[in-house]
Amino acid sequence: MIHADTNAKRFTLHTDHTSYAMAVDGQGRLLHLGYGPRADCFRLPDAPHNDPGCHPDLLPQEWPAPGMGDNHMPFFQPEFADGVIAADLRFAGAAVEPGKYGLPGLPAFRDCPGAETLRITLQDTMGLRVTLLYGVLPDCDLITRAAVIENTGTAPLTLRGVPSAVLDFARHDLDLITFDGAWAGERTLHRAAVRPGVQSVGSVGGIPTHAHNPFVVLCSPDAGENAGQCWGAALVYSGNYRIQAESAAAGIRLSMGIEPFRFAWTLAPGESFAAPEAAFVYSGQGFGAMSRRFHQAIRSHLIPPRWADMAAPRPVLLNSWEACYFNFDEDRLLELARAARQAHADLFVLDDGWFRGRNADNSSLGDWAADPVKLPGGVAGLCRKINDLGLAFGIWVEPEAVSPNSDLYRAHPDWALQIPGRPTLEIRNQYVLDFSRKEVRQGIWQQLCALLDSCPVRYLKWDMNRSLANVYSAALPAARQGEVYHRYVLGVYEMQQQLTRRYPDLLLENCAGGGARFDCGMLYYSPQIWTSDNTDALDRQSIQYGTSFCYPPCVMGAHYSTVPNHTTGRTASVEARMAAALSGTFGFELDLTAYTPQQIRQLHPFVQFYRDHGALLRGGELYRLLPPDGHGAAWAVAAPDGSEAVVFAAGRVLDGRCLTLPFAAAGRHYTARALYTGGGSEAAFAGEELQLLGLPLPQVRGDLPGYLCWLKAD
Ligand code: GLA
Repeated sequence: MIHADTNAKRFTLHTDHTSYAMAVDGQGRLLHLGYGPRADCFRLPDAPHNDPGCHPDLLPQEWPAPGMGDNHMPFFQPEFADGVIAADLRFAGAAVEPGKYGLPGLPAFRDCPGAETLRITLQDTMGLRVTLLYGVLPDCDLITRAAVIENTGTAPLTLRGVPSAVLDFARHDLDLITFDGAWAGERTLHRAAVRPGVQSVGSVGGIPTHAHNPFVVLCSPDAGENAGQCWGAALVYSGNYRIQAESAAAGIRLSMGIEPFRFAWTLAPGESFAAPEAAFVYSGQGFGAMSRRFHQAIRSHLIPPRWADMAAPRPVLLNSWEACYFNFDEDRLLELARAARQAHADLFVLDDGWFRGRNADNSSLGDWAADPVKLPGGVAGLCRKINDLGLAFGIWVEPEAVSPNSDLYRAHPDWALQIPGRPTLEIRNQYVLDFSRKEVRQGIWQQLCALLDSCPVRYLKWDMNRSLANVYSAALPAARQGEVYHRYVLGVYEMQQQLTRRYPDLLLENCAGGGARFDCGMLYYSPQIWTSDNTDALDRQSIQYGTSFCYPPCVMGAHYSTVPNHTTGRTASVEARMAAALSGTFGFELDLTAYTPQQIRQLHPFVQFYRDHGALLRGGELYRLLPPDGHGAAWAVAAPDGSEAVVFAAGRVLDGRCLTLPFAAAGRHYTARALYTGGGSEAAFAGEELQLLGLPLPQVRGDLPGYLCWLKAD
């Protein structure tokens, strides 16, 4: 619920359990009063805000602007035609609307019953208007922010930095949690106290990259999984970004938005610019509750409605990559598909290597037609044969990439991002197409449509295997080169939007060299993202643990793979590998043709487990029970009313200890059915027992043992 007192100029956003409050001071400045547990009364800050002589640096401002005495590192940087970079923004009006706002050309959390929007307009006398957008999704405790900047003057205006949101905390004692890593080690959690000055994460690689995720948490120093105050902040954006915490005199300021480096967006009079959305959840009960609210919001109101909640089961797929890499022909694929069918998979995904001349990673990207040697009947011919085996068909593409050795590049060398007169940089032997240009997108779009129209393709893996470099667009004049990075992202969004419109039943999975573009922006178009190229069951614990702080299990691409693992060389039990894969979208990625019928039969109960409990695994609430410590971890997915749950554990935690289950309902009786390769076991427990004493884990030794158990209340 939004409470707007337009006389007193006070505005409060209420979700079911949280409140966010603002007020306009005597000078017309929009001040932030607080964001925390649900409350009706927020005090104006102690600073003498009505005193014209007061130091503006001490004021908590909703939209700080440079040149007006706020000495934090300025994120918002409007440059007027006369060279002035400053803005004197005063309150000009506010309106509450039913429903959640949308943003043109940009992903954003969707409208839903009970959602509302608050628009607050700030005006500068020199011809600049800022409309702050606040969205409230009450049942998810989600508050979103975005901003639209308009040139209301008579001369051009250049935006050199636009935050999506700025949030002031009137305290210095907060920890900042970020999710960082590298290829095969994405989104590892790092936590440290915010120290004086600026700490930031971000990207200048054109995509978020493996290094940092566009999601952070600020929390009280005592905050943990089940207690303490925390504020999660996600950016709904897939390009260059910055999220920064600045600790200065009055407290800590969190700012987030498009990275200002190489950003310059010129607005002619009357034009406007929409900043991407930022989304926040506050929890007073620690990280677990915060994550569960983000998960609910993402699976119900961000991913395409076709795949929302439990609406549509996701197919059990087998992906050909770790089985074949580039080395296959049609017979080999059909042999693999037959084995996939024997393992009870639903869908066969043909990964990289299927198009003209693609036998290694050094050619053919951009030529999206079948290799006649590998696939004599084309993609359609293979698809028909796969379908005849009783499997649906899916395929891999990398639409934004072009190989120097490709017909596309030979025909359109200018389509690649490149700086005139300088050598163009190859990364993974490829260039990046200039997706800021319409004709480039159209060229790729036509090829994609030809592929998708040629046969019933049910799944598309959209990969992006490098960051952007040589960023310069042949289509824009020198003065507008600062728009290229953002226009590129808008181009990717436009094509993925077209895809979801034209092929509403197509299951789109995003990917970027594993998880280098795992963000809320991409989730608006694809209900799942490949989490990491590392499928090792132990490493997946920390990768999926970090990922789960913002993103729900049902969006994390997770596959059961072989041992020794191709990335780490490590061995893990079937149960541990299944626990990792079943905690995501579940599929196979291994050479099942090397398995005996008996070994394949051993996998059946796990596939059946996924089918039986898929709705719970997709739509249930995640509990991180024992965080990964490099040796093991335990977690569970439970129905909101505690009536059933799946408990997972793997590694050294399987030492006979008892695992307390906070979601177990007192007064109910549970049957616990554990699943092993050799069979299973069954035991009965009272809800109180599970809550207080815990579920006894077995004592298992060996290479990364694993444990899966379904709990059902009477
Ligand atoms: C990336 C993906 C992999 C695979 C390869 C193919 O690394 O993350 O899953 O598709 O590309 O080249």
